[in-house]
Amino acid sequence: MLDQETMKAVLLALAERSDDDVERAISESDVLDDADRALLRAALDSADTPAGMARALGDAVRDAGEIDFLANECYRAAFYLGDGLPGLQGDPLFGYFSTKRTGRILDKWIHYFPIYTEHFSRFRGRPVRVLEIGVYRGGSLDMWRWFFGPDATLVGADIDERAREVSAPDHVVEIGDQTDPEFLRSLSERYGPFDIVIDDGGHEMRQQIVTAETMFPLLAEGGVLLTEDCHTSYWDAYQGGTGRPGTFIEWCKAKVDDVNGYHQPQPLDRVWTDTLGSVSFYDSVVVLKKQQRFAPFAEQVGHAEFLLLPRFAAQHVTELAARRDAAVAQRDELRRQQHHDREAFEAERARLRAELAELQTELDAATAVPETARAVQALRRAAVTRIPGRRKDPAD
Ligand SMILES: C[S@@+](CC[C@H](N)C(=O)[O-])C[C@H]1O[C@@H](n2cnc3c(N)ncnc32)[C@H](O)[C@@H]1O
Repeated sequence: MLDQETMKAVLLALAERSDDDVERAISESDVLDDADRALLRAALDSADTPAGMARALGDAVRDAGEIDFLANECYRAAFYLGDGLPGLQGDPLFGYFSTKRTGRILDKWIHYFPIYTEHFSRFRGRPVRVLEIGVYRGGSLDMWRWFFGPDATLVGADIDERAREVSAPDHVVEIGDQTDPEFLRSLSERYGPFDIVIDDGGHEMRQQIVTAETMFPLLAEGGVLLTEDCHTSYWDAYQGGTGRPGTFIEWCKAKVDDVNGYHQPQPLDRVWTDTLGSVSFYDSVVVLKKQQRFAPFAEQVGHAEFLLLPRFAAQHVTELAARRDAAVAQRDELRRQQHHDREAFEAERARLRAELAELQTELDAATAVPETARAVQALRRAAVTRIPGRRKDPAD
């Protein structure tokens, strides 16, 4: 049977790079049987470096179904012996974690740090609103305050009153159950809308699903909901199992279909398809990002015409538009001119009409005089002829 003492001795010898001590720890153990020794030696022979050997030991322990703790310690040794450590050097949260040796308890899976950094860095130093569900002893709230800075609104929520009692006095810790949507909604109303919700609560299926269904729609635009310890979806003790219906991971897998909602025949789920920008799966962590999406459409570029034709077409269109604008301007000018000419013409015609009328009056007056004279002569003649005996005057 693989045991803790033997594994400790083997890992220590690996860290000190002493092959003799490694072999001594295996051969002198009075707990291991021959099969165990063969298993450990085969694992050690399969790798060249201390980090690789520690990792191979972890795999062997894990495959043998031994207690998780032993595999965890082997992988931990592998990491600190160099397997993955370089990738985390420079990570601010890992730096905080590695150098924090006192204060409130902070218990983290190491591979979460780059995930936090990837999704949270853009909020750093800003007046971000953060909710962490699952406070425990307040160690992570301390870390988030350090990371996000003094302008952040930081709220912790826990079902256990002790979480409030032991957290730093300046941390806000609300007591309630994450499976109670009303409690979650009240947090959003009082302190939200949150940019970040971290679910590190009870890790049971219903807790994670209710929290995600309630809090995701309430997130601020661009916000993220990060759910930790999703490995419980595979653990029987948490009602988990690979592919088992009802687990949080299965719920998240279905969300991938919502992200692709536009490409399926069924009606869109507006809350999720239009606002779920992405679902990011990591080992034990899922991150849902909220993002108001426009409806997807396709467009073709990349052929040679894209480089040439649009440019010529654009020039052509510009020229046509310029000629059209000039023609429109000319037409408007002609209309203005025509309008002006018409007014002048009307005025001239009216003037001529008036003049004509005046002339007619004068003409009438002028012609009226001779006609009167002729009428008088005619009357006289008529009168003369009618007056009998009147001697013709030689002057007539
Ligand atoms: C893993 S610990 C949190 C650790 C902490 N975030 C840290 O990193 O140090 C989980 C916490 O979730 C709390 N919890 C469990 N079930 C809960 C529930 N239904 N609602 C709210 N909190 C719950 C527990 O009381 C516990 O304090």
